[in-house]
Amino acid sequence: MNLEEAKKQIDTLSAELKQHNYNYYILSQPSISDFDFDQKLKELEALEKEFPVFLYPNSPTQKVGGDITKNFQQVKHRYPMLSLGNTYSEEELLEFDERVRKSIGNEFTYVCELKFDGLAISITYENGKLVRAVTRGDGVQGDDVTNNVKTIRSIPHELTGNFPAIFDIRGEIFMHRKTFDRLNNNLRKELIEQGVDEDKIAERLYKNPRNFASGSLKMQDSKEVAKRSLDAFLYFVYSDQNVAETHAESLQMASSWGFQVSDHFKVCQNMQEVMAFINRYNKDRNQLSYDIDGVVIKVNEYKHQEDLGFTAKVPRWAISYKYKAETAISKLREVTYQVGRTGAITPVANIVPVQLAGTTVKRASLYNADELERLDLYDHDTVFVEKGGEIIPKITGVDKSKRDLFATKIVYPTHCPECGTALVRKEGEAIHYCPNDSHCTPQLIGRMEHFISRRAMNIEGLGSETVAGLFKKGLIQSYADLYSLTYEQLNGLEFESEDEAGNKKKRSIKEKGAENIIKGIEASKQVPFERVLFALGIRMVGETVAKKLAQHFETLDAIIAASPEQIANVYEIGEKIAENLIRFFADTDNVELVKRLQSLGLKMAMEFDPNESRSQLLAGKSFLVSGSFSISRDELKKLIENNGGRNVGSISKTLDYLIAGDKMGPEKLKKATDLNIKMISEEEFKAMLNH
Ligand code: IVH
Repeated sequence: MNLEEAKKQIDTLSAELKQHNYNYYILSQPSISDFDFDQKLKELEALEKEFPVFLYPNSPTQKVGGDITKNFQQVKHRYPMLSLGNTYSEEELLEFDERVRKSIGNEFTYVCELKFDGLAISITYENGKLVRAVTRGDGVQGDDVTNNVKTIRSIPHELTGNFPAIFDIRGEIFMHRKTFDRLNNNLRKELIEQGVDEDKIAERLYKNPRNFASGSLKMQDSKEVAKRSLDAFLYFVYSDQNVAETHAESLQMASSWGFQVSDHFKVCQNMQEVMAFINRYNKDRNQLSYDIDGVVIKVNEYKHQEDLGFTAKVPRWAISYKYKAETAISKLREVTYQVGRTGAITPVANIVPVQLAGTTVKRASLYNADELERLDLYDHDTVFVEKGGEIIPKITGVDKSKRDLFATKIVYPTHCPECGTALVRKEGEAIHYCPNDSHCTPQLIGRMEHFISRRAMNIEGLGSETVAGLFKKGLIQSYADLYSLTYEQLNGLEFESEDEAGNKKKRSIKEKGAENIIKGIEASKQVPFERVLFALGIRMVGETVAKKLAQHFETLDAIIAASPEQIANVYEIGEKIAENLIRFFADTDNVELVKRLQSLGLKMAMEFDPNESRSQLLAGKSFLVSGSFSISRDELKKLIENNGGRNVGSISKTLDYLIAGDKMGPEKLKKATDLNIKMISEEEFKAMLNH
């Protein structure tokens, strides 16, 4: 490699690694496996060693890792938070051992611990009280997340026993796998109910427990953090006082002061014992309730740790052995294509069932046409399946040497596998869509599931699986059919349902269930217009948009009659949403459907309290309500809306009036004065209405 080539390669690798660091530490959305990251980092390190002229101080090889998020106060660590050297091979581990022995002789022991896959935290205790908790940040300073850390039950606020007056304790904050599954599933349901497109849902879900824990710890609202049931293991005491002679003793001490220390550690006499520990947990790690990504090996005696000291980045007395993501080998049975509620197509590999990370895997995601092309998949190929902490396993590669001579290549379909309509792919997007939204079965079922969901029509007693069952049995074809279902039709009805892993179950509706469904359907007729509008599942018409449209137009007829410009001009609606609405109501089937729903008793207009007076006195004017008043702020906002005005959330040049109450914040006052916004009192506002 010549100088020019080396520079180019170093620049490319640095830029790539910086981006991955950003994705991992700041966005909490890793974009590469740990293994690949470490490989790239090592490649860069080797190049920089060979071409030291290109070793820059801001190279990713010269940093501990993370960066700092803006929202928290920065605190400098009393002892820098270093990372560990790591390896994936036994050979390199033996080299580490050799280096250690060369430096301190043979009279020492190692402690093997699990490498918890979470995020590092440093907590300071003064006189037995938790005073501060700081994330690793860039190793020198991190975010002060004390309030969030205090919500973690296993972290004591006050200590017991004989502890040093001032010390730092380091550990790992993590989320148990079960908690992750539960919370991520709830989040998925919530996003579905909010009407988020399914291809966007995958992006917004957390990728793995580490990711979720990290996202949680960086939240601004500690009350929310408390709901995330985070947990912590502590593994290192830093104190100017001597607490113990060895690391193992210090762990026992920490435990006696009230810290949660993992039981899974072992003092090892030699490398055979170290390797045995590593192999044991590689096998058993699925039985733990949390993720680990390797084992940390530390020299046990503090005096030896001191003799060994540190390199610029890592201690010479410790190393981590990282496990590779678990891979299984299986054979492709077929590729099927799932069609979602919005028509998004997801290719899925159906494979010969195989054990992987403690579960049986039958299906793995292939994401999209590009991924299929990248894998170059053929019929009955031998495939590598990996579960890197994500919920859905993925196919990471193909063993082409095992390919059948006459196998044919898997070709992405041009037409919808469910309804036969030609697929479309929007420019710049990786996903194909089936545009036949009015007649393609899975789209219809998906929309039906949305219609009955909690935030839409909230039909109690009726769940997604049942509604899909009713559809497949031919009992319902459109939303309107729900309203003619009878108890007799439902009671005793048997159907088959399928969960996300592709497992089929027989289900049946019993008497009580049938009764509840009928009751739930009847009760849904009371759901207000704005939610009915949301329930219709019109693209881009989520909860907030539906509410704005309902408040502005007041009746469905007015929305149908409105021109694209009239819709687009509603505050914060815009052309794209207007286009979708116009397209929806241009379809006579849809108009007929809503008319039928109306005649069945669903609310297709806003209902106003006859005691509330309404007018258009404030039409076109925007208001910001700030401070406290003789009536509640919500009541005041309602008055504004009922009289045609618009409430906004922040001060900007375009704001017409700021209604200033008692105890209005000084910043708002300053900003409003700077921007020359008209400020009025509650009395002046009321006077406007009496005109
Ligand atoms: S000891 C100077 N022990 O791994 C030694 N670290 O790659 C400090 N980690 O930043 C670290 N489990 O976030 C240590 N039992 C364990 C660990 C552990 C997980 C993390 C920690 C550290 C990273 C280093």
